[in-house]
Parts: sequence; structure tokens; C-alpha cells
Amino acid sequence: MTDRYGVLGHPIAHSKSPLIHSLFAAQTGQNITYGQLQLPINGFVSGLKQLIAEGWQGANVSLPFKTEAFGVANVLTARAQAAQAVNTLTFMNGLIYGDNTDGAGLIADLTGSLLYPLQKKRVLIIGAGGAARGVIQPLIDAGVAQLIITNRTYEKSAALAKFFQVDALALHECVNSFDLVINATSASVSGLLPDIPVSVFGPYTLAYDMFYAKEPTAFMRLAAANGARTADGLGMLVAQAAEAFFIWRGIYPATAPVLSVLRQKL
Ligand code: ATR
Repeated sequence: MTDRYGVLGHPIAHSKSPLIHSLFAAQTGQNITYGQLQLPINGFVSGLKQLIAEGWQGANVSLPFKTEAFGVANVLTARAQAAQAVNTLTFMNGLIYGDNTDGAGLIADLTGSLLYPLQKKRVLIIGAGGAARGVIQPLIDAGVAQLIITNRTYEKSAALAKFFQVDALALHECVNSFDLVINATSASVSGLLPDIPVSVFGPYTLAYDMFYAKEPTAFMRLAAANGARTADGLGMLVAQAAEAFFIWRGIYPATAPVLSVLRQKL
């Protein structure tokens, strides 16, 4: 029997998840279908119940439904609880299991694909929305030496820092260089750049933008102009999907060949 999965969002037309998961399935010989479904903004929970009734085994959840997915899950993993958001749902034994693989995807991309060990690293996260929140605990668990959160609206970074027991700085206070600078703001979506002092970048810095596009983002260009190595978030996208595939199928697919297909298609 073919097991059914898919990604839920609004909008969802440009999602890369169906391609990623069909490549994973072909690679690992798993008999699944993976579709995409746009649910009405106010119809997430009823839409989800319908999919479960139709026999879906699991779903990925995209914007803007990650918080609602968190709310509807009967069982949550610790990392979903820390993120307060769910991107991977599994339907089993009449229960909805909620997990969040975004942080694990970032860690896998950094350590597995970019060969960037995180132990003892000094890390700056720019942004204090859902994207930032999802990766903080996994970074702490990966053994970083220091984690600072900074954000355009300082109060939001201070609240997040308090929750995770790390430190917050205002953007203009970030004057020292960091080993890893992660752009978790949505500024890149609009071609914009957080107002960060360039002194955060040094020759040994990895500047990681969680966003991706055909061309390097404004954040990556600024970092490169100041001597840093750069990476975009396409590897994280593929790796978070691999983590979800593993949850559902018990097999961890190879991400490198899938990443190279996606890179060519950008
Ligand atoms: P997401 O779930 O993608 O994190 P979000 O919760 O709306 O989305 O958060 C967006 C983040 O990007 C916030 O940290 C936001 O800063 P504010 O808290 O000050 O709004 C940040 N952001 C968005 N556009 C930005 C810009 N042009 N410059 C700097 N930060 C920006």
C-alpha cells in the first residue's frame, strides 16, 4: 500500500517539499506519495482532520500554520516544545504527533554538509521570530560556547534570550566578531538587510542566511565583502526534510544529491 504524505501551507504553490520528498523516496525505494495542499487561512484544523480521515500518514507544515500545528498535536517532542511550533506531523493510533525538524536541519547542514563543527563556537542569531526560536535550543544542545540573540526590536530578543537563558544585545551593541552569524530575520525575503555592524564578521566567520535565492542574499554579500565565508538556507531546507522523512520512514536519505538538484533548479 502506498503511504500518503504532503505539505500544508498558505500559499504553497512554490513549495520545494514535494520534489525533495519524491527524490528521497526514489533514492531509498520507499513507496509513498507526497503532495502539497493549500488550506484556507482559517481552515487548518478542519483541513487536517479531513486528511487524517482520508488516510494520510503524516504532513509537513509550512507558514503560516506552524503554531496551529503545535496547538493541535496530542503529543509533542521536546524540540517542538522549545520551538513552540511544529513542522512535522505524524498520524498514528488515532493521535497527532508533532515534531519540529528545523533546528535539526540547520545543525545537520552546518556540521554534515558544511563541515562546520559547533562545539565551543561563539554564535550570533539575528532575529527573534519563529525562525530564530526554532533553532536556538538545538544550537545550545550542539555545544556552542556562547549564543547571543539580537533583533531590530530589542524587547523581542530579550524575551527570547530570557526563555532560553542566553544573552541578548541590541543590534548596534554587536561590535565583536563571532564564529557563526545566523540571519534568522525575514529581511532577505524583501531583499533587505538587518542593520548589523560589519565588525561581527571576521575572516574565520561563517555567515549563514536561513533564507535562500538564486543569487547570494544581501546579508551574504555584506558578510563576504567583510571577509566571511557564507552559506544560504537551501541546505537547511533539504536537511529538515530529511529529518522528517526519517521520522516517518525510519531511513535517513542522502541530502547532497538532492541539494544539488535543487540548486540547479533555483
Ligand atoms: P519568522 O517566523 O520567519 O521568524 P516573524 O516571526 O515575522 O517571521 O519574524 C521576523 C523577524 O525578522 C523578526 O525578528 C523581525 O524583526 P522585528 O522583531 O523587529 O520585527 C525581523 N525582520 C524582518 N524584516 C527585517 C528588516 N528589514 N530588518 C531587520 N529585521 C527584520
